[in-house]
Amino acid sequence: TTMETSAPTGQEPPPVRDWPAIDLDGTEFDPVLAGLVREGPLTRIRLPFGEGWAWLATRYEHVKLITNDPRFSRAEVARGRVTRLAPNFAPRPGSLAWADQPDHNRLRKPISGAFTVGAMKRLRPRAQEILDELVDGMVREGPPADLVERVLEPFPLYVVSEVMGVPGTDREQVHDWTRQIISLSGGAEAADRAKNGLYGWITEIVRARARSAGEDVYSLLAGAVARGEIGEEEAVGLAGPLQIGGEAVTHNCGQMLYLMLTRPELMARMRERPDERGPVFDELLRWIPHRSTVGLARIALEDVEIAGHRIAAGEAVYVSYLAANRDPDVFPDPDGILPDRDPNPHVAFGNGHHYCTGAVLARLQLELLVDTLLDRLPGLRLAVPPEDVEWRQQTMIRGPRTLPVTW
Ligand code: HEM
Repeated sequence: TTMETSAPTGQEPPPVRDWPAIDLDGTEFDPVLAGLVREGPLTRIRLPFGEGWAWLATRYEHVKLITNDPRFSRAEVARGRVTRLAPNFAPRPGSLAWADQPDHNRLRKPISGAFTVGAMKRLRPRAQEILDELVDGMVREGPPADLVERVLEPFPLYVVSEVMGVPGTDREQVHDWTRQIISLSGGAEAADRAKNGLYGWITEIVRARARSAGEDVYSLLAGAVARGEIGEEEAVGLAGPLQIGGEAVTHNCGQMLYLMLTRPELMARMRERPDERGPVFDELLRWIPHRSTVGLARIALEDVEIAGHRIAAGEAVYVSYLAANRDPDVFPDPDGILPDRDPNPHVAFGNGHHYCTGAVLARLQLELLVDTLLDRLPGLRLAVPPEDVEWRQQTMIRGPRTLPVTW
């Protein structure tokens, strides 16, 4: 893989721009990112924590190249103090996000079967049952209700526990830990205690399932440990992020429903052509500003030339999937929500071998949530003016804090 472009290399490096973590309202595209896109294609940024600066790629073409190129390493990032959004980070052995090849393949192999399209098809009826119970409860109590609290937050939590194989008796405890970790992702002491609790519990369940023939993730991990394919510590590092990954669905779906509830033409399209909702989900996934700033960096293992700039060995690089999803060369009228956009090769779930493990699961949940809420509640609408919806602050993943609705 080569990245040489026709532009001359050795250009003056662009200035380093501060990218503060600003609390954005609604589904507004981060104005700092918009500025970096204009200044691009390659810029340099400094985030609130960590040290130094990093490159930022915002064009679709470069984002795809960088995320597919083994000359950029995640494992290297774990060793340094790269500029970042999160106040603290503690990469664990076994975590997919921090693994390079061939480790990444070795770690993903035991669990990949649990997240395939086939596995998700088998999960669907049970997931629908869980969702129906939540919606029943909300309907029984009557409007108004907070959709986040009643449905969007518990549903992904319960579904993930189903996939992972959390026994019924432990679910409440596991969900408590998960909620604490998520709500305190800034790293307060209580979150550390919850993490220790959860990781201790995972260690035990993986030990207990050593001879299980089950298809749940904890059984699959236990089997891989027993066969010596992964270590016990790695099994725990693998499972942790999966167990708490459902949070992304809560907030992404929150943004999705907010858009439908505030854009009558979008809601009408969803209601009038229920069999053709698939492309609309993709368009919303493309458009939604899922996260604050950028996720995890990569480090160049050797000098790489991109867009006329030399990224030197040892330098850090971020890609913005959000910016790539608005690249006008790939998505005409990028800021418009075009329900029938075709093709729509968005990168909302990432690209390359770090592509989201939970993408098919997330997609299933988003579809079930939107279908069920729209079809069961024909009069669904916001119970407050749109500008009174409160948004999450100081977060990695953006979304409405509450979504008060009536029907
Ligand atoms: C990674 C998006 C839901 C588990 C990622 C990445 C993105 C993403 C952009 C990073 C790719 C990269 O590092 O280059 C989303 C979105 C979701 C969602 C938009 C919901 C709408 C989930 C769910 C789970 C999950 C439900 C787990 C059950 C993971 C894991 C990784 C990941 C484990 C790390 C994969 C790796 O580095 O190999 N996701 N995700 N995600 N996601 Fe998701």
